[in-house]
Amino acid sequence: MSPVRNIAEILPTHTAALFDAAVKRAAELLRTGEVVALPTETVYGLAANALDAAAVARIFAVKGRPAHNPIIIHVCDLAMARRFAGKWPETAEKLARSFWPGPLTLVLPRTKEIPDIVTAGGSTVGVRWPSHPFMQAVIRECGFPLAAPSANPSNFLSPTNAQHVQSTLGDRIKLIVDGGQSQVGIESTVVDVTTTPPALLRPGMIHVESLAAALGETGLRSANSTSGETLKSPGQLKKHYSPNARLRILSWKDDTDLRRQLIALGAEVSRTQVVVYSAIPALPGLGGVSVIPHDAEAYARALYAELHRCDNEGAEWIVVESLPEGPEWQAIGDRLRRAAS
Ligand code: TXA
Ligand code: MG
Repeated sequence: MSPVRNIAEILPTHTAALFDAAVKRAAELLRTGEVVALPTETVYGLAANALDAAAVARIFAVKGRPAHNPIIIHVCDLAMARRFAGKWPETAEKLARSFWPGPLTLVLPRTKEIPDIVTAGGSTVGVRWPSHPFMQAVIRECGFPLAAPSANPSNFLSPTNAQHVQSTLGDRIKLIVDGGQSQVGIESTVVDVTTTPPALLRPGMIHVESLAAALGETGLRSANSTSGETLKSPGQLKKHYSPNARLRILSWKDDTDLRRQLIALGAEVSRTQVVVYSAIPALPGLGGVSVIPHDAEAYARALYAELHRCDNEGAEWIVVESLPEGPEWQAIGDRLRRAAS
């Protein structure tokens, strides 16, 4: 690979004046059809004017994203969400009232105003009202919704801070707004509300039990992406969200058992990074060990930064301690299994 030429400007937002200046600069670029990287509470997004097909085409080019993978749009209030949804079912109302603004994307029927490129030619559009104050302020300033996938090269790990974006896309965009560490840390829960009952297309930190509680009697269906015909949610393709290193989820009794499993994998101990939440292995010569919190929300917030760090340290293998049970761990398990495939 050729060396990365970092040219993106990174604008900080940690004072009111810096925040306002960054909102103005981002909105100015977005109005002229540029793509900019913006913070959200889930992961950083690569944003463009969702109503401008040429601007959205730039997102696909920058990410190397296949044209059949639709992009979600971000709004700053319920009125904007309803305006771009062809229909607003009762289930959308319930979920929006319970979880917006926040890490939930609703797949809805689309209106004609949304260009085909956003929906990959499909009849639905994914809509999210994010809770991150910067994202909200930019959308308000622009007055149009922002199409934004995660700000990473296609198939790679999502970024959870501005440096992650800079190191992978910094030579392809003009502006990255630094809004701090993403507080949720993994991508939004995606729910298709065009069917009854609604279907979970991608698990996220708003988990099935919370969704089911908000939906009441209607309930929730777990969609299966293995059916061939249409790609309901291409993000569900098995290979996705991967670090460069090979990743395995393992559980082990003691250090001897861990060593045995590493040998069985063919993993060189010195090129292996281990990510644990319970006990720190004391294997001599390990490439590195990092401890990640034993609490699902804190774990999710830290996970991608850990995997990015393992890659940066030149890991050949990343071994992640197998996760606890429970609905709050479901989305984290989903991302780790994809990273491992
Ligand atoms: O948290 C998030 O959702 C982040 C931040 C930036 O908002 N965005 C994000 O976008 O993760 P992306 O493109 O990396 O993932 C969106 C997922 C993809 O799996 C995509 O296939 C699916 O949502 N999707 C988008 N529009 C859809 C639609 N109309 N129908 C079904 N799936 C859709
Ligand atoms: Mg993504």
